Amino acid sequence: MTHFSENIILRKAQFPNTRYQGSKLKLVNWIGENVKFLDFENTGDIFGGTAAVSYMFKMKDKSVVYNDLLKFNYYTGAALIENSSELINYDDLNIVLSEQNDENYSLVQNIFKDVYFTDDENIFIDNYIYNLNSYFDHYSYKYAMLLWCLFQACIIKRPFNLFHRKNLYMRTNDVKRSFGNKVTWDKSFNWYIRKFTEELNQAIFDNGKQNISLNMDAMELDIDFDLVYIDTPYISINGSNVDYLHFYHFLEGLCGYEGWKDKIDFSKKHKPLKNIFNPWNYKDKISKAFVDLLNKYRKSHIVISYRSDGIPSIEFLVDTLKKLKKNVTVFSYGEYRYVLSQNGKSQEMLILGYD
Ligand SMILES: C[S@@+](CC[C@H](N)C(=O)[O-])C[C@H]1O[C@@H](n2cnc3c(N)ncnc32)[C@H](O)[C@@H]1O
Repeated sequence: MTHFSENIILRKAQFPNTRYQGSKLKLVNWIGENVKFLDFENTGDIFGGTAAVSYMFKMKDKSVVYNDLLKFNYYTGAALIENSSELINYDDLNIVLSEQNDENYSLVQNIFKDVYFTDDENIFIDNYIYNLNSYFDHYSYKYAMLLWCLFQACIIKRPFNLFHRKNLYMRTNDVKRSFGNKVTWDKSFNWYIRKFTEELNQAIFDNGKQNISLNMDAMELDIDFDLVYIDTPYISINGSNVDYLHFYHFLEGLCGYEGWKDKIDFSKKHKPLKNIFNPWNYKDKISKAFVDLLNKYRKSHIVISYRSDGIPSIEFLVDTLKKLKKNVTVFSYGEYRYVLSQNGKSQEMLILGYD
């Protein structure tokens, strides 16, 4: 079996650096090393996020199914995992960056004025979406790739890299800052689109397998995986959760520009999408969601990324897995084996269930 790092050297392809809550990019080699003794080919990354883990498995020549509930993430999977050869060229960039300013494409300028980006930046975003929707096939990899570049540009230009508050003033006010990076925020969209295009093109490779990207609830997938990788939204012991739809609603809106307005919750200043129930966001619902999910995938090798202070507890997950799999092993990042943290610090964990 070839290792991730060796493969990178052989292929020169490289996963782009992204800024996303809960990304496992820093842990992928560790995850790959800990599962390499298992026999598997068909692999599901069913809470895929940035696709960092899918990409690691793609590098290892597995056949990968990337999945995420959010549409904007689906495009990440399409661009980086399903796509094996398409690249963005100068003509594509010239088209998508050309100034058209169609009056029907003014949603961001109107609804999000003073919320996340400056007026000029809002015009750029409306215009970019107009060009994408007018000149690119929505089912093409180029469409997914050019959207991905826009998402990365939007994220990097945001304080905290999120869309959870109306806080453009943090960028524009002339104050002394103890966080963030005004230079990073203020570089132009145009500059970032070109930068991310290069990074994305460099990440594309063919592993000779069929890889696909899906946009479904992980509970609704109907695929038999040899190995399923599970990295759900995290709820900490004090109950604070990561609601991905709420944190990234702006990007989700860009994926469905035409129907976007009707889905916005206008009662809130930062104009998020209306909430959609998801059990992974609720501390009183998440344990049952885990039991159902692990049962659903009981025929697969199960690999769970987790945090030592999560709800439900590691012990709960291990007990649940032990009812389904012959072997259950728990690893903690940076430690030889899992020991309950003495200083209460949250540790990155990996839980394996296999027969
Ligand atoms: C912790 S993140 C995954 C991070 C990912 N492993 C990475 O390295 O970037 C959890 C992901 O689950 C997705 N998600 C939330 N609820 C989901 C559901 N019911 N089905 C599938 N995906 C879901 C979120 O959109 C988010 O991208």
